[in-house]
Amino acid sequence: MKSKSTLSILGLASLVRVSTSLQLNVTAISARDGSSIFQCWQMDTPFDISTEPGTLGTAGAVLGDVSTVSYTIIPANHDSGLHNAPCNLWAVVAGLVHFTLPDDDTAGAYISGGSSSIMFAADTAEVSQRGHNARFPGLTETIVLQIPTHDGEVPKHSVLHMGPCGVDDMVGIREVGLGATRSGPVEAKVEVDGNLLPIQFL
Ligand SMILES: *[C@@H]1O[C@H](CO)[C@@H](O)[C@H](O)[C@H]1NC(C)=O
Repeated sequence: MKSKSTLSILGLASLVRVSTSLQLNVTAISARDGSSIFQCWQMDTPFDISTEPGTLGTAGAVLGDVSTVSYTIIPANHDSGLHNAPCNLWAVVAGLVHFTLPDDDTAGAYISGGSSSIMFAADTAEVSQRGHNARFPGLTETIVLQIPTHDGEVPKHSVLHMGPCGVDDMVGIREVGLGATRSGPVEAKVEVDGNLLPIQFL
């Protein structure tokens, strides 16, 4: 009995050591010289191992204080038109959104479910003249949770690179999610109107 509990504590301790170097990367719509831009941000606060019941032993990261949450239902094929972020906010997307920029027609960013479902919008009217556009090309409605930060704070981060985060920037999530012994995307097929469509969980 005694040796069993000692073992599990040791196991948890090594998990903490391995995982604390892992940091979340999120696509951000930021601004430079009055124009909105895409950047891949790496959060300063690393993942930690949860000691809460329900998530015990799993990796979690604190994203900072927030003010309120709104839930928006956006129909398929909706086009938001050019707009600024109303304030600095997290957005969590269940569905599919394609962002474009009025001042850089070579740039685009898809945000969908899975590990790339969270992003940060910081191109408020104070820093970006024209903002960004969002279209929702999915087959179904898209649900967006908008979560403004407390006092408009921007979470502490470094810029990993210009442009949205890519598959390589989600590799840590995939490794934690699948365990160290498996790597690479999980592939599956989903049936839509009698057609088998390949899907990938990155
Ligand atoms: C963030 O990006 C870095 C570099 O691309 C990568 O090594 C790390 O695993 C990523 N973090 C997560 C949580 O995927």
